[in-house]
Amino acid sequence: MNYDPRKNQRSSHNSKGGTAYLNEYHAMQFSEKTAYACDAPYPPVQVAERNPRNLQYILPYFAAPHGEFTALTQYSYQHWIVDAKLPELSRDLMGITKVEMLHFDIFGRLVILLGGDPKCAYLRNNRATPWNGFLLSYQKDPKQMLLMDIKAEQDTINSYLRMSQELKDPYLCAIFKRLALDEEVHLNLLRKHLNELG
Ligand SMILES: [Fe+2]
Repeated sequence: MNYDPRKNQRSSHNSKGGTAYLNEYHAMQFSEKTAYACDAPYPPVQVAERNPRNLQYILPYFAAPHGEFTALTQYSYQHWIVDAKLPELSRDLMGITKVEMLHFDIFGRLVILLGGDPKCAYLRNNRATPWNGFLLSYQKDPKQMLLMDIKAEQDTINSYLRMSQELKDPYLCAIFKRLALDEEVHLNLLRKHLNELG
């Protein structure tokens, strides 16, 4: 079972799977070269085996406090907050949000492939805890926002690169390595905006 987000693979999914609209979304957002993602093609979303241990490794990147769901909602919030005063930053934050949405989708698919349930929840002290809006920062100062985002992107890159070396599943390693490249693009863009704010 595999999935290449760069290709429209409607024919490989039946309508019951509900994935057709996502494939159309990917084709629409990412078929053109974008300033918000690395140019390199995405590896297929595939796993070597249904491995519960790897599932536990993947879950924190899906909907835990520092996961992709938090990233995409955090950037959306910031996009709205700075829109009136800093339209270019606002536009770029939405561009980044769309790429984080793609990452979120990839992790959701991986959770399924590894035999899990992609609920918006995470483990805290061994208890299932729902993801919630208080996991975001509601900071409104653009400089403070950017400093926080830059740290978050840097942490994510380090963590994805570490995963790409530690995991034994070559498909997962390739995905983590590729996603780190997108986060690198985001990091550079955020740094550029921080410099411009002076
Ligand atoms: Fe991401």
